[in-house]
Amino acid sequence: MTAQLADSAFLAAARGETASHTPVWFMRQAGRSLPEYLKLREGVGMLESCMDPDLVTEITLQPVRRYGVDAAIFFSDIVLPLKAVGVDLDIKPGIGPVVASPVRTLADVEAIPDLDPSHVPFISQAVRQLVAELGGTPLIGFAGAPFTVASYLVEGGPSKEHAKTKAMMFGAPDVWDALMRKIAGIAADYLRVQVTAGASAVQLFDSWAGALTPRDYADHVMPHSARVLAAAGELGVPRIHFGVGTTNLLSLMAEAGADVVGIDWRTPLADGIARVGDRAVQGNLDPTLVFAPTEVMTERAAEILDAGRAAKGHIFNLGHGVIPSTDPGQLKALTEFVQSYSG
Ligand code: CP3
Repeated sequence: MTAQLADSAFLAAARGETASHTPVWFMRQAGRSLPEYLKLREGVGMLESCMDPDLVTEITLQPVRRYGVDAAIFFSDIVLPLKAVGVDLDIKPGIGPVVASPVRTLADVEAIPDLDPSHVPFISQAVRQLVAELGGTPLIGFAGAPFTVASYLVEGGPSKEHAKTKAMMFGAPDVWDALMRKIAGIAADYLRVQVTAGASAVQLFDSWAGALTPRDYADHVMPHSARVLAAAGELGVPRIHFGVGTTNLLSLMAEAGADVVGIDWRTPLADGIARVGDRAVQGNLDPTLVFAPTEVMTERAAEILDAGRAAKGHIFNLGHGVIPSTDPGQLKALTEFVQSYSG
């Protein structure tokens, strides 16, 4: 890693060190809010685009060029490694991941192969190309956390209640344990591929963990996420752990082994900082504030930046992903505001 990269504001803040300014990037910064993305994706399926290193490289770079954000996030999806090992699934436009044969039994779990680097040569190639292009801008690799990925595998598609998933968790603990171990192993191996090829931080997305009580999170989910985070820790890069609706889980998500804890917009940042203790935080502007007048959006961003000074490190972000109808001009204004306010 070059000194310029190691000293970048994003990596300094993620390590809990003083940064030149509060770094900023946006979850889902690549994607449908960008006209240049929609143009590239014309007639190309989502998974198909994720398996094409040149497309992945270009799509990942688009928001970095347009906004000048402090980090790039690798363009892919949380279900990509499952597809790569042979699970029959697709990502349907406007719906999300859909699995042909949902996982219900121990035999279903055992039929899912472990991930080998030879399943994902296109990922290694895309990461290497990106690191060469990005220079001093860090690349964040990512994986889906076991609970969130399990929900897609067990429900067969997106779900509000995660009822079948929780039914397995409560009613078939041996199948649940095997499934969580399988997904945790795939996630750890997938993160290793990305870091080995040059990613300089990783984010574990447990987007749907907020559906769980703290007790069930601690008993049935946290040990598996902790295994992924421990494996990532051995790679020597900062680990970001993020979920939505997780106010009451933040201390556990920190304890699971995160260097940086993502805070969604429903939790005031100061509360989030108190809950995660001596760690860096990431967040947490309400993603709908981009639809407000620019000065209202930046006023709220300033409040978050002020609150963030109490943390061991603060990476500015939205509280969840960019909404597809977002005006890229607002994200450009927000990026410039954050970088100059704190610089
Ligand atoms: O810029 C980035 O943040 C990197 C790209 C990224 C995508 N998916 C691209 C994508 C990342 C980090 C993800 C992770 C992901 N995928 C999560 C965790 C993050 C979160 O938002 O909580 C989850 C839960 C998924 C599952 C998934 N995949 C959903 C819910 C959807 C959206 C369905 C829809 O169309 O509204 C997808 C599809 C998807 N993943 C798209 C993109 C750009 C849209 C597909 C398209 O452009 O056709």
